Amino acid sequence: MSEMPAPYGSGPASSVESASIKKIRIHHLRQMKERGERWAMLTAYEQYAAQTFDEAGIPVLLVGDSASNNVFANETSLPVTVDELVPLVRAVTRSVHRSLVVADMPFGSYQASPEQAFHTAVRFMKEAGAHAVKLEGGREVVPQVELLTQSGVPVMAHIGFTPQSEHNLGGYRVQGRGDTAARLVDEAQALEAAGAFSLVMEMVPGEVAQQVTDKLTIPTIGIGAGPYCDAQVLVWQDMAGLRTGRIAKFVKPYADVHGVLLDAAQRYAAEVADGTFPGEDHTFH
Ligand code: KIV
Repeated sequence: MSEMPAPYGSGPASSVESASIKKIRIHHLRQMKERGERWAMLTAYEQYAAQTFDEAGIPVLLVGDSASNNVFANETSLPVTVDELVPLVRAVTRSVHRSLVVADMPFGSYQASPEQAFHTAVRFMKEAGAHAVKLEGGREVVPQVELLTQSGVPVMAHIGFTPQSEHNLGGYRVQGRGDTAARLVDEAQALEAAGAFSLVMEMVPGEVAQQVTDKLTIPTIGIGAGPYCDAQVLVWQDMAGLRTGRIAKFVKPYADVHGVLLDAAQRYAAEVADGTFPGEDHTFH
């Protein structure tokens, strides 16, 4: 990555090379890093969002365990299960032509052992057609990453603030400040050496994310990790302004989908109430 990236939105959405790729594979992401081409990842949990983001050319879609608090209305990502996520991953993989689909392994589905991680990953790949899996953690999940990658499962790693460890980390806090920066860099290198094809960094200081990005050959994907990552990820409902209420500092809404839906629902209800809908155009004879 360059020392001073251009501001977001100032460059082409994708290079001629990546725009012509029919189906995104993990080696394409590495090539994009080599070319210094930054890219965007979004979460997706169902058909129409997945189709739209695939059409928009988003190279990687993550069926995040954030479905827990963005689909299933839980407070945190902890309660969601593999059984709940499998149908969402299946819907997304069925809906895309080009995007690489990553299934997030939920809390409790991989931490116990590499074998447990393997069985969970196999479910996502066999039952849902996932192209890769993501798991959270540093050195403690290196054996999991090794077994999965040796077994043919591409792994996206995730360090920094890891929401599944929220209680252990003392809540939502920036990770890797001060003395702990070196540990973050060390974890990133260990995960790359174990075979991870990419690395999410969540809520880490921009300068630390830059150090990691410069040291790794695999792409780094930031969320609250500043502009010096190879890629960025946002939860789609945050990116599109569907979720209301308090938003994290690192979120930028690019639309007001909540406002659009609210207005549409209110106008529809009003037209039903006053008898304007259904009109002649929407009536069979
Ligand atoms: O579950 C999720 O959505 C995530 C991303 C925000 C990185 O882990």
